[in-house]
Amino acid sequence: MKLHPVNEAAQWAPESWTARTALQQPAYEDAAELRDVLAELGQLPPLVTSWEVLALKERLAEAQEGKRFLLQGGDCAESFADCNSSIISNRLKVLLQMSLVLVHGLKRPVLRVGRFAGQYAKPRSADTETRDDVTLPAFRGDLINSPDFTPAARRADPRRLIKAHARSAMTMNFVRALIDGGFADLHHPEYWDLAWVEHSPLAAEYRRMVASIGDSLRFMETLAGQSINSYQRVDFYTSHEALLLHYEQALTRQVPRQWGWFNLSTHFPWIGMRTAALDGAHTEYFRGIRNPIAVKIGPSVKPDQLMRLVDVLNPGDEPGRLTLIHRMGNTGIAEALPPLLDAVKSEGRRVLWVADPMHGNTESTSNGYKTRRFANISGELDQAFDIHAAAGTRLGGVHLELTGEDVTECTGGARGLDEIGLERAYKSMVDPRLNYEQALEMAMLIVRKSGGMATPI
Ligand code: PEP
Ligand code: CO
Repeated sequence: MKLHPVNEAAQWAPESWTARTALQQPAYEDAAELRDVLAELGQLPPLVTSWEVLALKERLAEAQEGKRFLLQGGDCAESFADCNSSIISNRLKVLLQMSLVLVHGLKRPVLRVGRFAGQYAKPRSADTETRDDVTLPAFRGDLINSPDFTPAARRADPRRLIKAHARSAMTMNFVRALIDGGFADLHHPEYWDLAWVEHSPLAAEYRRMVASIGDSLRFMETLAGQSINSYQRVDFYTSHEALLLHYEQALTRQVPRQWGWFNLSTHFPWIGMRTAALDGAHTEYFRGIRNPIAVKIGPSVKPDQLMRLVDVLNPGDEPGRLTLIHRMGNTGIAEALPPLLDAVKSEGRRVLWVADPMHGNTESTSNGYKTRRFANISGELDQAFDIHAAAGTRLGGVHLELTGEDVTECTGGARGLDEIGLERAYKSMVDPRLNYEQALEMAMLIVRKSGGMATPI
């Protein structure tokens, strides 16, 4: 194995990113206001703890070895307005239902990571938006500004950092309370029923899996002569794109009895495709934190470039440290992915490969909706499994944009939603998400795909 500890000697501090070019950051008008907010945020309690972060890293290391499968999912962008009990619990329900399908089909523990409790900042393709003759700053997520098209709403408002921290804490608190209270208990999958289960084309298949898991559980409990408590709770971890570096820095902390720095705004931050430059501020920030981290890898990344990024972000080849999320598109993956897999494999580097079949498949319909076709999403995922199998590497997880709501944002799926159908309940302010039914269908597809292979991945 070739190791390149290029950065071992390089100095790092939570603010060392400020010496680099930071893409996708808003322009704050009032430096003093921002400074005050950051000082306040720096005093607020963290949202997660270092031992949770380190426990997740160990589990991700197990996923790298094929002992677990990562399910990472949630909204493209959370919004402050959607921080309410039904949206949070429905999202949890659909993730739990999907993980039940995956556990049942893959016969492997599933590692559940939400895109929530902090997914409030979005990269944009343009800094401004023009409507008629008016040009305003682009909407960059609720952490930065508001989607309304007025100068006041589009102003980058530092107070939003405090609000985002609070909404993230409320989300976390509710998720933790639900899980600690037994919401995720495998003995009671009926807790996670969403109204649709009654009339979905997938209902029968899902019910069969629930019944089969119930049978296995009762069988094991009979053998053990007692109820198996570990099935009464599951762990949930959080993740978000760590885009706004001022926010991330303010929540980067040292803790007693641990060396180094932790980003305690989330367990598992990732670098987005647009900000993953080797010499960029995001790479500089990420290399110094001890969290497990992920990077989105798009079709323009070349093997050399990827290997240098791997060197900088994980110079010691630490298990569980680095996840690479490829998002190539259904038409691009066959060409773009194999050279990257070969490069990582031939250098013997340890990464967790995850497929994001959403972001390379976004398009606009003739009636003006940003959408994704289910067939393209499932097509990319399907190819991802085959490409990894051919390369002798392992696809260890999926990264999906989904919601527990009955939205109509992606076309296709078991109900054959068409472009006209998108109008019924298109709610996303940013990217189109799988609705609960399409999300579950995706989980079933993953199982069928893995079950269909000669050697289970
Ligand atoms: C996202 O995950 O919402 C996103 C913007 O992804 P990417 O960086 O892969 O484009
Ligand atoms: Co998105």
